[in-house]
Amino acid sequence: MRPTNRCLLQASRAALGHENPLGLPKSGTIPRMQRGLPQKRAIKDVRKVIAVSSAKGGVGKSTVAANLSLAFARLGHRAGILDVDIFGPSIPTLFNLSEEPRLSSNNQLIPLSNYGVKTMSMGYLLGPSAPVVWRGPILMKALQQLLHEVDWGGLDVLVLDLPPGTGDTQLSVAQQVVLDGSVIITTPHTLSLSDAVRGISMFDKVSVPVLGLVQNMSVFTCPCCATQTHVFGTSDKVKQLCAERQIEFLADVPLHPRIAEDAQEGKPTVVAEPGGERAEVFMSLARRLGEKVGL
Ligand SMILES: Nc1ncnc2c1ncn2[C@@H]1O[C@H](COP(=O)(O)OP(=O)(O)O)[C@@H](O)[C@H]1O
Ligand SMILES: [Mg+2]
Repeated sequence: MRPTNRCLLQASRAALGHENPLGLPKSGTIPRMQRGLPQKRAIKDVRKVIAVSSAKGGVGKSTVAANLSLAFARLGHRAGILDVDIFGPSIPTLFNLSEEPRLSSNNQLIPLSNYGVKTMSMGYLLGPSAPVVWRGPILMKALQQLLHEVDWGGLDVLVLDLPPGTGDTQLSVAQQVVLDGSVIITTPHTLSLSDAVRGISMFDKVSVPVLGLVQNMSVFTCPCCATQTHVFGTSDKVKQLCAERQIEFLADVPLHPRIAEDAQEGKPTVVAEPGGERAEVFMSLARRLGEKVGL
């Protein structure tokens, strides 16, 4: 039987029009809002934390983050992924998971696992169609719980799938959690690149090392004639940006229908075609990031 719930689970269900929208207990394990900026805290039982970010939506953060966590697991690390995109969670779909998480005896959320990776997402707590209508302090409380009230049970590496932008959530994560670094995802399109620059500046401001850039969806190779099309413009622009900002160009993920199809089937590339060249891009990204953060 499930333990009595005192977490986001109930909270989120009661959220609309309820006096105590998060269903928080009067006392207990859930931290109260603090005055001023909260302290930077390490995520408990997790050795390394890598944030996958982009200031632009739809550039492939969740796809890369999911495959990266799976690649870490394949390399033998105890890996997890935390979906910090509260308004648009993707991890339940990408990992084909939808159960309600259980609570541990000390009221921590127990992650759901698939393919050897532990996962937690607001999507598990709210269900697939519920809109999140939180802002301000309630959003911050939900975020705090995702960041600090999950029983990871010992991880070598946790990947954070951040929402797009450089707003409240990203800043709060960067300021409240000890991060080993961030990885920024971008396409070579000018609109995405200028947002990538904003992302780099945000992490600089909060003293989080930018481990590098991942270029996504730059090249499509025609399966019939092998012609290569640079869908979002030439890939040189991302490399130029890396050179200008002295940031490593970490990986170049091609645009390929299988990457999108496998993702929506809940079996991302690293597990769907483990020996393939596309999976190898994510494997070498994981190896390089592992070296950089000292895994
Ligand atoms: N390399 C790729 N090749 C093909 N489709 C991709 C690739 N990367 C991402 N996609 C697709 O692009 C869309 C946006 O990706 P997603 O990971 O959800 O982006 P974000 O998290 O940045 O919003 C999804 O439909 C995803 O399947
Ligand atoms: Mg996403």
